[in-house]
Amino acid sequence: MTTSGFAGTVERHALGWLVAANLVGVWLAAVLLWPALAGITGPWGYGRWMPLHLNWQLYGWCSLPIVGALVAWFVRDDRVGRLHVRVALGAWSLALGLGGVSWLTGVTSGKLFLDWHGWARPLLPLAMLVLWSVLALQFWGRRHEFSSGGKWLRGAALALLLVVPNLLFWAAGREVYPSVNPHSGGATGASLLGSTLGVIVIFGLLPVMLRVRSRDGGAAGRWFWAALALSFAVYARVNHGDASHRAPGQIGALGVLLAWVPLLAVYLGRFEWHPAARPWLRAGMAWWALLVGTGFLTFLPGLSERLKFTNALVSHAHLAMAGLVTSLNLLMLRQLRGGGTRRGFWLWQLGCAVQVAVLMYAGWTEVSSEADWFLRADWTQAIYGVRLAAGLAMLVASITWLKETWA
Ligand code: HEM
Repeated sequence: MTTSGFAGTVERHALGWLVAANLVGVWLAAVLLWPALAGITGPWGYGRWMPLHLNWQLYGWCSLPIVGALVAWFVRDDRVGRLHVRVALGAWSLALGLGGVSWLTGVTSGKLFLDWHGWARPLLPLAMLVLWSVLALQFWGRRHEFSSGGKWLRGAALALLLVVPNLLFWAAGREVYPSVNPHSGGATGASLLGSTLGVIVIFGLLPVMLRVRSRDGGAAGRWFWAALALSFAVYARVNHGDASHRAPGQIGALGVLLAWVPLLAVYLGRFEWHPAARPWLRAGMAWWALLVGTGFLTFLPGLSERLKFTNALVSHAHLAMAGLVTSLNLLMLRQLRGGGTRRGFWLWQLGCAVQVAVLMYAGWTEVSSEADWFLRADWTQAIYGVRLAAGLAMLVASITWLKETWA
């Protein structure tokens, strides 16, 4: 069990951004249902609010729990450590708040998730540097406490982390990586395999960073990393250039991920998670199975063409982030705090499941019923209505969790 004094700070920042981003999400869902509502906020129309929902979810809610895991790995949980964490997370939240002002006022690069532009471009990279300095300071102060392996691993992580703010600043520029890339036909099986394996590396490191004890003396860890190395070997061999999603090699490469449905669940299940964290692990693994299964199916020829750029993509995004990532984030927060209630658990899971299901159905109907969608026929309005209700349920669940952090 890991109990951390700074867990409360991490929770308040992370959940605060989840609530804020969900509020914007509910507003967007209401505007999709009743477009006239958009007029209430004057020039701040749908397109101005959209980056707030996306970036606050990604850089706020989806990032801060893993920042919390990093903090637990590096920072000593004493008065100075807690002050360091408050400064680092304060800088991070200030950057997100100011970012919100910039997107609402139209200062944006127009690049999805890389909207940081003009005066706002250096904000998040600077906040990342503040966090990095805190981690480096703590690492140096505690260097005699760590084993040589622990020192090596943390040193390597610090070196890698220093690349991130620079990369983010560079990638946000309009001159690189255009928002509409004329040379790309979309993600290939190889690129999807590579990026998902990268995510599996992070999932694999969670018990290490949170220092959760293994139930089998580390045996699961050994085969987990060996299987991951094998998967990366497949990734290295597959065609990385222009490749159709009809090519058997691309489909086969993506199929490797199917093996990771049981592998990840068995690996993470071999650790002594806090009882308050375990329901979130089970939910996370259920979402993971659904994500990999449906993600693979929707890559296949026939299905892919029908669903691309429809609400099915929005469904997939919420399945990944609101379902899987949110469940694993709550796992981290509960483990960090060493406790927590189950309040809001089912409200979130059911709200998310309904949102994912109706959006997938919406996407499926879009090619065959364009006119109904364009003219807002009653049944399409009903779908957006159910989606709004599901979003409200998720908003209420997130407010419950935030309120608990002050309890
Ligand atoms: C209160 C719950 C939520 C509601 C009502 C909601 C609503 C929305 C709406 C209306 C859109 C725009 C879709 C469009 O323009 O067609 C959207 C997009 C998106 N949301 Fe949410 N959302 C919620 C929660 C979340 C959460 C928790 C996450 C991540 C952790 C998230 C991540 C995303 C992403 C990544 C997209 C972009 C999808 C795409 O265009 O492919 N949302 N959401």
